[in-house]
Amino acid sequence: MKLTVIGAGNVGATTAHIAAVRGVAREIVLLDIVEGIPQGKALDIYESLPILGQDCRVIGTNDYADTANSDIVVITAGVPRKPGMSRDDLLSTNAGIVKSCAEQAFAYSPSALFIVVSNPLDTMTYLTLKVTGLPRERVLGMAGVLDTARFRSFIAMELGVSVKDVSAFVLGGHGDSMVPLIRYTTVAGIPLAELLPSDRIQALVQRTRDGGAEIVQYLKTGSAYYAPATAVVEMLEAIVHDRKQILPCAVLLQGEYGLSDVVCGVPVKLGRNGVEEILSIELTAEELEALHRSAADVRRTIERMETLLAQQSS
Ligand code: APR
Repeated sequence: MKLTVIGAGNVGATTAHIAAVRGVAREIVLLDIVEGIPQGKALDIYESLPILGQDCRVIGTNDYADTANSDIVVITAGVPRKPGMSRDDLLSTNAGIVKSCAEQAFAYSPSALFIVVSNPLDTMTYLTLKVTGLPRERVLGMAGVLDTARFRSFIAMELGVSVKDVSAFVLGGHGDSMVPLIRYTTVAGIPLAELLPSDRIQALVQRTRDGGAEIVQYLKTGSAYYAPATAVVEMLEAIVHDRKQILPCAVLLQGEYGLSDVVCGVPVKLGRNGVEEILSIELTAEELEALHRSAADVRRTIERMETLLAQQSS
């Protein structure tokens, strides 16, 4: 298994580190546009492996030729948010970056599976699909696993229980309109609604929606990376170990949930072939409406991106 991580910043380097620690790949290539950063970080990660007893080649590079024949490419290149910014505010900078990264990586690894992390996530995933022309099974975005982990953390904190007891699902776009599904959220199998009053649940839902901004507010100069990188590695492991794991991921919808030609977070089965199934779970009219509202937000951002890219190329 050869893994390429594009962008050796906070999310990319942390992803490469966790992937190396967990022995996800035989070879990890960390690529960045800045000279020295990927080389230095890759060497540092490699030097941790004798202590861990993990056997994996880790190299840092600025040259896409080194990424040739990757099985999986993770795109984290781009700028992160600063306080007061929404993910959509990153669009004009990150669209150009993600487009060029996807084009170049695809040229060297035409049969790779792509996992997109750069924001605005759903739109950058859509862009990667269009740029590579890969089938939707092979291009997916990491957001739902992170948003769900945040929701689970807040529920565990509120109830004073183990995070392991909390099972949840957050669907929709990776933005303010994401859709935490209360009916599918349980604590040791007990529906959340039986354990918490609805006003408390709503407060946790709101904290989840603002979860990324909460970290940006603390860090001031960047956004979250430990939980995002861990979420990417969970997806990598599901694929590499052919786990057939059901995880919320951003994928291109073609009729599912009444949505088409838009990328949105829904439950998918992840295995060796990437997205092996998109699960259509039953939603109430209210939940479906929330999902459609979230998808409409993504669609607007996709349209803005298309205009921007057309202007940049003219
Ligand atoms: N090619 C390769 N790497 C690039 C390019 C490019 N064209 N442009 C920028 N980069 C690199 C930067 O040099 C930097 O090392 O991407 C890296 C981004 O790292 P950080 O600034 O630390 O940002 P990070 O916190 O990792 O977030 C990256 O993921 O979660 C999202 O919103 C976040 O869009 C952001 C992305």
